[in-house]
Amino acid sequence: MGTTLIFPDGVTAESFLQFFWQRRPLLMRGALPGIASPISPEELAGLACETGVESRLVRQQSRGRPRWKVSHGPFRAATFRKLPPTHWTLLVQDVDKLVPSVTRLLERFRFLPDWRVDDVMVSYAVDQGSVGPHWDEYDVFLIQARGRRRWQIANARPSPDNVLPDEELRIMARFEPDEEWVLEPGDVLYLPPGVPHWGVAVGDCVTCSVGYRAPSHRELASSWFEHVLEGVADDAYYRDGPMQPPAHGAEISPAAAARAVELVETLAGRSRAEIERWYGAFLTEPKPNLTVDPAEPPLTPDEFRRLFEARGAIYRHPFSRFAYLPKEDGCDWLFVAGESYTLPKRHRTFLQTVCQWRELHFGFLAEWLGESDCVDLLARLYNGGHLAFDDGA
Ligand code: SIN
Ligand code: CO
Repeated sequence: MGTTLIFPDGVTAESFLQFFWQRRPLLMRGALPGIASPISPEELAGLACETGVESRLVRQQSRGRPRWKVSHGPFRAATFRKLPPTHWTLLVQDVDKLVPSVTRLLERFRFLPDWRVDDVMVSYAVDQGSVGPHWDEYDVFLIQARGRRRWQIANARPSPDNVLPDEELRIMARFEPDEEWVLEPGDVLYLPPGVPHWGVAVGDCVTCSVGYRAPSHRELASSWFEHVLEGVADDAYYRDGPMQPPAHGAEISPAAAARAVELVETLAGRSRAEIERWYGAFLTEPKPNLTVDPAEPPLTPDEFRRLFEARGAIYRHPFSRFAYLPKEDGCDWLFVAGESYTLPKRHRTFLQTVCQWRELHFGFLAEWLGESDCVDLLARLYNGGHLAFDDGA
């Protein structure tokens, strides 16, 4: 198996990014040849019974006009035994954080930045199972991992009111497909945001969706202003400047307005460096159900180094996202699970190595382990629970 997707003839990773990414759908037949489903339906159902795992069961009611009903996990094993032979599908989010073989799938997608990936959702459907025609506001690679699924897509951007009333799932009221393909194991369909699609299982099948959910402007603004608020003192208040008795009691004088403008600019105005640092932390922030526990007991940098040498390898916790920002002025920044760390830029190759591999062998890092900056950083990541000596993936 290669290290990336096999793009169709005439398409490379570079031309994919230039002509398709966020723009146009692309069917990639045989993009992952020989793929075996990275998870069995039984394992997926097992995950859907666990608390802290986000799962949904979507049933299509077969009588009358099509309707879809969704229920949320955790489920009881008995629920699955009572399901009919057709028209349902089970979907589990964040399987890349839970199942090592699904985590490894992401290696094939490194032609895009790691920090753009949201999760791998895995669905198991019985014959004719689907979540109905809909569109998503994010990019997705739909990997056919087992069995077959018929995908239909429409070319025109849907109108926002084209949705069925009273459905928890945003299912389209009218869906007129322009193209249709039956995907076989190893085929991948890329869809940019806003493309109406409908995937219906042909016999039972497993689909892995690598999702690139981009933050909305509202989410960005909310996180940024929350960050700004953290830096605003509780006990600081507006104060008047020099004043004259007002000629008209209701007037907001130009001087008072100017004072307010200056105050808000001072409260909100931040340096480019601070915005970049907030952004790196924001991008690596874990979902609330995917936070890690600190190491018990914590180790000193020396103890950590000795144990690392003895154990030979250390593993990234699958919940913890890593990203770094190289800076030409000052130190580079590392972002892990919403926290930021700095490191002198002479250690950039060390930082790149730490971010590149989920499994870090002592030998990969040995040349930097005499440097206290580097060992201290690894020990902090270990103590925070982001690196561990056991492969928890
Ligand atoms: C599925 O895997 O059934 C649904 C994926 C999607 O349509 O987004
Ligand atoms: Co979709």
